[in-house]
Amino acid sequence: MDNTPLPDSYGRLLTYLRVSVTDRCDMRCIYCMAEDMTFLPKAEILSLTELERLCAAFIRHGVRRLRITGGEPLVRRDVMAFFREMGQWLGRPGGQPGLDELTLTTNASRLAAFAEDLRACGVRRINVSLDSLDPARFARITRRGNLSRTLDGIRAAREAGLALRINTVAMAGVNDDEFDSLIAWCGEIGADLCLIETMPMGETGEDRTDYYLPLSGVRRGLERRWTLEPVPYRTGGPARYARIAQTGRRIGFITPMTHNFCESCNRVRLSCTGRLYTCLGHEGSTDLRAPLRAGTDDAGMMDHVRAAILRKPRGHDFLIGRSADDPARVTRHMSVTGG
Ligand code: GTP
Ligand code: 5AD
Ligand code: SF4
Repeated sequence: MDNTPLPDSYGRLLTYLRVSVTDRCDMRCIYCMAEDMTFLPKAEILSLTELERLCAAFIRHGVRRLRITGGEPLVRRDVMAFFREMGQWLGRPGGQPGLDELTLTTNASRLAAFAEDLRACGVRRINVSLDSLDPARFARITRRGNLSRTLDGIRAAREAGLALRINTVAMAGVNDDEFDSLIAWCGEIGADLCLIETMPMGETGEDRTDYYLPLSGVRRGLERRWTLEPVPYRTGGPARYARIAQTGRRIGFITPMTHNFCESCNRVRLSCTGRLYTCLGHEGSTDLRAPLRAGTDDAGMMDHVRAAILRKPRGHDFLIGRSADDPARVTRHMSVTGG
């Protein structure tokens, strides 16, 4: 069987696949979705069997980390069967195709019901989106989330022994007075924290220029109150970490707007409709669903994948504050690819 790796035209090897299993979500975060989102009809969504087949092909060709995203992945009814199936790729003998990590990014609203099962499938580390610890503010940011449900989910994840990173999108005038309390709270619950710059993706009914906050300044502010020691620790993604001496936990920074990390990009994204996006910051994508449903064999599918990866751009060119018709804005919502 052909197991050759997947390099792009800049020599970057593809080792990290993000799979969005649904475009639906039970929240409507102000930076991610519009309040009145129209979701895709079921027929457009890949079945579990289709998703499994595509993921297996990627793993055979060198993908070592698989992150399940959405929308909110845990709102898909059959998602645990998918995790069970993908978990089979963990812990394979060295040198063979397999996964080093199976994980997910979730808003935790349904995590209380699934944390134990996820652990049983081999998940060890998860990222949870949480932008505020204030119930009213949390409700305003997520438009329909409930903080106590999310906190229940986080508690269940800790009890199940899952390592946690809290993802917080940093927003000026929205949650920029909460970073100290988030750092302290993460210290108490034993989680890492990751601050993320708002990326201009999709119409959300809000003007993101209003609350865009460069993390370089945030970091300088934090350094007046906390001791941040840079550490070489890396996860699969773009975060750069420091250890906070006072809490012993890590803080990560994801800075697509102020510091471009594309030169080391190792990932592509598969949407729930089977489109392959080779860059978060570009519209370009390749449809894998049509050839899949036309009965193309694995070798033929990999020809489509290889061709797509060779077109992977050198990097994104997000720019905040441009008008809606500017090509530097990505019109697709973040929920299409789950970040
Ligand atoms: P780890 O495996 O823990 O490193 O996860 P991650 O940071 O890759 O994934 P997560 O789903 O937690 O995403 C956190 C943020 O990083 C989201 O806002 C994503 O959109 C963003 N992100 C992930 N990969 C990329 C990327 O290649 N480019 C850009 N611009 N943002 C990314
Ligand atoms: N900019 C930055 N991060 C975003 N996320 C969703 N939309 C955006 C955006 N426009 C984050 C969520 C989640 C992760 C998958 O992506 O907070 O943690
Ligand atoms: Fe849902 Fe996550 Fe988007 Fe919020 S950021 S609306 S929780 S997919």
